[in-house]
Amino acid sequence: MKKVLVATIKPFAPAAVNQIKEVFDKAGYECKFFEKYNGQDELIEAVKDAEALIVRSDKITQEVIAAAPNMKIVVRAGAGYDNIDLKAATDHGVVVMNTPGQNSNAVAELALGMMVYQARNHFNGTSGRELKGKKLGIHAYGHVGKLVARIAKGFGMELYAFDPFIPDEEIEKDGVTVCKTAEEMYALCDYVSLHIPANEKTIKSINYELLSNMKQGAVLVNTARKEVINEGGLLKIFENNSEFQYISDIAPDNAQLLIDKFNDRCFFTPKKMGAQTAEANINAGIAAAKQIINFFEHGDTTFVVN
Ligand code: 3PG
Repeated sequence: MKKVLVATIKPFAPAAVNQIKEVFDKAGYECKFFEKYNGQDELIEAVKDAEALIVRSDKITQEVIAAAPNMKIVVRAGAGYDNIDLKAATDHGVVVMNTPGQNSNAVAELALGMMVYQARNHFNGTSGRELKGKKLGIHAYGHVGKLVARIAKGFGMELYAFDPFIPDEEIEKDGVTVCKTAEEMYALCDYVSLHIPANEKTIKSINYELLSNMKQGAVLVNTARKEVINEGGLLKIFENNSEFQYISDIAPDNAQLLIDKFNDRCFFTPKKMGAQTAEANINAGIAAAKQIINFFEHGDTTFVVN
């Protein structure tokens, strides 16, 4: 009987847990849930005899991988796999996969929800602004970016995107105008929504030089990763663009300083909320479970990232 561990500091919704269990039961796999654990040492102990691992943003370090000699596959139930040491996995012969697209709708809905929340002054009873007619720049047009465009169209926003990896025609067929450079898009838009992954090319890439293109009162929306922001540059733009606003799904490291100095011009979720819906958990969790079964039973390596 194959042994699967689902290790989630931030647990899946109960409905997702039940459905993941069912998928593994049917396949005749043993599946244990290890939730809300306290740090790496507990995880190291828990993975010891696992042959497959499902995680969310849980940090899978070299030490965790080395502690699981029978491990064959780690699936990140979600999109971003910056939490997994890919080199260590490869060195130990462990396959790593993600489940692209499975939780994208939840993230896209949150991006628009946060924009409404900010435009309506955190629902504090004062007169706010509408999204209709505003220009929205989508930085990276992958699964989430595409859904952000679809929802924002419903709000009547004017849509722009910058993504050098996606052919222009694919963006244009959604009624979105392609920007040739990030600078051009940042200068044009009232809102810029980030959907780039965190990797060595993008970490700290949203810096002062880029942000200084933004208009007075423009809003930067981050449902991607806090690591893509250059926090020194962010502070400087808050100081130099007197109406600039930053809303982010997870606080930057200098959150308290920003809140103290700029108050309602920023908003941060207390915990990463993007994929925190029952639907996203079910979609991503079940996809992860099926990918593990298909890997063991049929050698299917679709969605491998290492
Ligand atoms: C992702 O990369 O899929 C999202 O950021 C969701 O992350 P989470 O599973 O930790 O909520």
